[in-house]
Amino acid sequence: MFRLNRTSVTAWIAVVAVIAGLSYALTGPAVRPASAQPQAPAGQVAFTADGQLKQPVGYRKWVYIGTPLTPNDLNDGEASFPEFHEVYMDPESFAQYEKTGKFRDGTVLVKELSSVGSKEAASGKGYFQGEFTGLEAAIKDSKRFKDEPGNWAYFSFGHKYPLKAEVSKGAVAACNKCHQDSAKTDWVFSQYYPVLRAVAPR
Ligand code: HEC
Repeated sequence: MFRLNRTSVTAWIAVVAVIAGLSYALTGPAVRPASAQPQAPAGQVAFTADGQLKQPVGYRKWVYIGTPLTPNDLNDGEASFPEFHEVYMDPESFAQYEKTGKFRDGTVLVKELSSVGSKEAASGKGYFQGEFTGLEAAIKDSKRFKDEPGNWAYFSFGHKYPLKAEVSKGAVAACNKCHQDSAKTDWVFSQYYPVLRAVAPR
């Protein structure tokens, strides 16, 4: 029978340590190939050289702050932003908002649109989410958007799939103005986001 005495245990530990050390030296702490890296870390977005916003990635894992709903059938058949609007905020900015009640420089809000898929479910009549249809983003950046009112810029990737891969910011009159005039906190419609109201310091 194979028996371990103290000498052979020590020898085995040495062998295992050498193998572990070698494989660490060869493979880690890995410089991973570009394809294996996430395209953009949460809370950050990427721009093209000419200043277009690339379609954000990973935002469905950010902090969810609310779902305004403008169904087409209550808006003459075509709401300007149809229909469910699921809104997410990048986690770092959310953490700051919890402390200060303010949107920090660099805040990214993504509003994903989805259709009303059904108006009746086992729970009753209502509006139930169907498919993803569109994507918008709002970004506050005092350097990149120093000339935009409130330093907020607005981006629309479309209201129908396939969405655009990269887009220029919307004109102030098309997006920013209405936010400036009617949003409750900074340029953000916090009046419709109970999650933000719940975490803001009193
Ligand atoms: C006429 C007013 C109006 C205009 C114009 C407008 N918005 Fe908004 N936007 C709203 C309202 C109200 C909300 C919150 C309720 C909702 O989503 O329906 C909102 C919410 C958003 C949000 C979520 C974050 C936030 O600030 O609350 C984004 C992102 C956004 N809009 C992008 C855009 C873009 C991009 C444009 C231009 C293409 C635009 N908006 C134009 C009224 C407007």
